[in-house]
Amino acid sequence: MRMAVPHIVQYQGSKRILAPQILRYMPKRFNRMVEPFAGSAAMTIAAALESRAGAYLVNDLNGPLVRLLETVVSSPGEFLRDYAAVWEGQFSFPGGHLAHFYKIRDDFNAGDDRPANMFYLLARCVKGSVRYGKNGNFNQSPDKRRHGTSPSKLERNVKCVSALLKGSTKFSAVDYREVFDRTVSGDVVYMDPPYQGVSDARDCRYLSGVAFNEFAESLETLNRRGVDYLISYDGECGGREYGRDLPPELGCRKVMLKAGLSSQALLLGRKSVTYEALYVSKGLASAIPAVEAENAAQKSNFFPEGVSW
Ligand SMILES: C[S@@+](CC[C@H](N)C(=O)[O-])C[C@H]1O[C@@H](n2cnc3c(N)ncnc32)[C@H](O)[C@@H]1O
Repeated sequence: MRMAVPHIVQYQGSKRILAPQILRYMPKRFNRMVEPFAGSAAMTIAAALESRAGAYLVNDLNGPLVRLLETVVSSPGEFLRDYAAVWEGQFSFPGGHLAHFYKIRDDFNAGDDRPANMFYLLARCVKGSVRYGKNGNFNQSPDKRRHGTSPSKLERNVKCVSALLKGSTKFSAVDYREVFDRTVSGDVVYMDPPYQGVSDARDCRYLSGVAFNEFAESLETLNRRGVDYLISYDGECGGREYGRDLPPELGCRKVMLKAGLSSQALLLGRKSVTYEALYVSKGLASAIPAVEAENAAQKSNFFPEGVSW
């Protein structure tokens, strides 16, 4: 049975659930996995769990988030101790646990952006959704019903992620184009960028928007360097579709992955399945028929002919 992908950070848009499906389109074994828009690094963790690559590069423009991931991997014990002190503080804080969240948020925005504070904000904020205001301050509100992951619950995942990535993973917090410049043939780059509908100035869900045209042009760099890549592209935000396909000149193939039931449709009493696009670079596309045959075979194993559900 497949082991559940361990995770540390709750992060809106995390690919943890979809990771096993996405991994099928990567080679069984390759030199290095590069994640320029890593977020919670769910894909890197999932790939490491299957020992897919010899090395990993985790990058995100959000510096405090990357420092959090790096500390979890390099010093799990120290991280857990620091986080326990911050988390426990909410139960004795004058004014209560919500006032404590705002105090940590103020400290974070004033420069105390150490991993334990970053983690506490992520663990306690609404939907794990990172929001920064125009002034660059973290401005997401606390989820009033929750106290955030308890340190004892977190311990197992933190230790597991550290054991998976320690010694084989490098971290950086630079723009994705700088990461592209550091890639070499033999790398597989997995990208989950914030772009189109979800990244304009009115939506502060991400630190910085990524312009569609600029992104599409930068992909040419990878093609020229002979680097293989995969791009997740949900193209859907708040029930609306933002469907600009990537330019055909890039030579990618687009496959649709079943992402699960739409939570919005469920609220309206309907059961509709949402799909997410995955662009597969030219070099990896030849494996698609085999992956699809394997998917179909697995489905028929689960649901033999004549059995419906
Ligand atoms: C959709 S999220 C990635 C989620 C991730 N796949 C996961 O499983 O958690 C996109 C990420 O891109 C980062 N980002 C935004 N602009 C960037 C840029 N120019 N270069 C690198 N990262 C960027 C954001 O901080 C955000 O974490």
